[in-house]
Amino acid sequence: MLQNKKIVLGVCGSIAAYKAASLVRLLIKAGAEVQVVMTPDATGFITPLTLSTLSKKPVLVEYSNTETGEWNNHVELGLWADLLLIAPVSANTLAKMASGQSDNLLTAVYLSAKCPVYFAPAMDLDMWKHPATQQNIQQLQGYGNIMVPPGNGELASGLYGEGRMAEPEEIVSFLTDDIKKKLPLVNQKILVTAGPTHEAIDPVRFIGNHSSGKMGFAIADQFAFMGAEVVLVTGPTSQTSQQRGIKRIDVTSAADMLGACLQYYKGVKACVMSAAVADFTPVNVSAQKIKKQDNDLNIELKKTTDILKTLGEQKQKGQILVGFALETNDEEKNAIDKLQRKNLDFIVLNSLNDEGAGFKTDTNKITIIDHKLQKTTFELKDKDEVAKDICYKVAELIKA
Ligand code: CTP
Repeated sequence: MLQNKKIVLGVCGSIAAYKAASLVRLLIKAGAEVQVVMTPDATGFITPLTLSTLSKKPVLVEYSNTETGEWNNHVELGLWADLLLIAPVSANTLAKMASGQSDNLLTAVYLSAKCPVYFAPAMDLDMWKHPATQQNIQQLQGYGNIMVPPGNGELASGLYGEGRMAEPEEIVSFLTDDIKKKLPLVNQKILVTAGPTHEAIDPVRFIGNHSSGKMGFAIADQFAFMGAEVVLVTGPTSQTSQQRGIKRIDVTSAADMLGACLQYYKGVKACVMSAAVADFTPVNVSAQKIKKQDNDLNIELKKTTDILKTLGEQKQKGQILVGFALETNDEEKNAIDKLQRKNLDFIVLNSLNDEGAGFKTDTNKITIIDHKLQKTTFELKDKDEVAKDICYKVAELIKA
């Protein structure tokens, strides 16, 4: 959940500031990029050197760097962040945030931030209980800021009670769970197919195609990024998934792919068939390597089962089925024919006549045609971006 997330970590003047060191390490380990911003008082509890070493970025404290004369642009920082986490937040900074004061860089970043804001309070028992603090917290929650609740236990004062900052591990799992539950496709199971299929001729030869699997892997990654539980059925390819938690099923032939798809199709909300499935397969597969002969060799082929059409026939109410059409001529007409014949919710058309589209490239140019024959044409884009367009469309249909 935190992979590649840009996090501004605000650290305030509280004894719990020493835990910021572990917090930075855990966030970095989870794949986040961390920019630490400290209040001037926080530097008395933990040195900027410690946090800049761990975050691999200079820690920002003041509005400007007196040595270089550069301005630490709080607006830019606020816009850069995917997430602002203030941990620990002291009673004093809580009060400033609630009343909109910005007398230091951190509070100015807070006021400029457009991203989700999380805060993990740390203070003594009585300060925590004070109605002013409780009111400030309510105020912040009313602004949509999210509190990582403090724990109960021994406080720095020696008193026991509420007010202790949540442990760094707890903060990271709180963030992860909160981000996850807000993802658009959480709890949705989605089946994606990718790559070519190989149809064996003999133990060393096969009929294949130029599909690299890039498009299908990008789609599976994007669905996983959006919180879906993804099953990826893939033909032979060197691609690897970038997102964790994708269940990958490796298959070789069209028949194998059909078997795997039928196994998972019933339990999924949506299926995107981006694999380039062979349309024909040899009638007989030689058990031994076919030797060169004087005569030409004829291989008899039979049609494979159309997986997408089979799934279209079994489609349940509420299930979403998406296919691809890679065409060289009469593109739209052929795509609409496939859309209707295979009972799809939409079809992704790409034409080999468009430069940068189709197999092997890192880019693609697509047109989405839905079952009402509404057409959306996209520009030539990186396949990761194309995957977003396709997955957002699926998410939109699921929501509808
Ligand atoms: N497809 C499939 N099973 C097959 C062949 C194709 O599931 N045996 C799926 C592909 O994954 C793709 C869509 O059908 O999503 C379109 O594939 P394509 O080969 O272009 O379609 P065909 O119906 O086979 O049409 P044609 O070969 O005549 O162009």
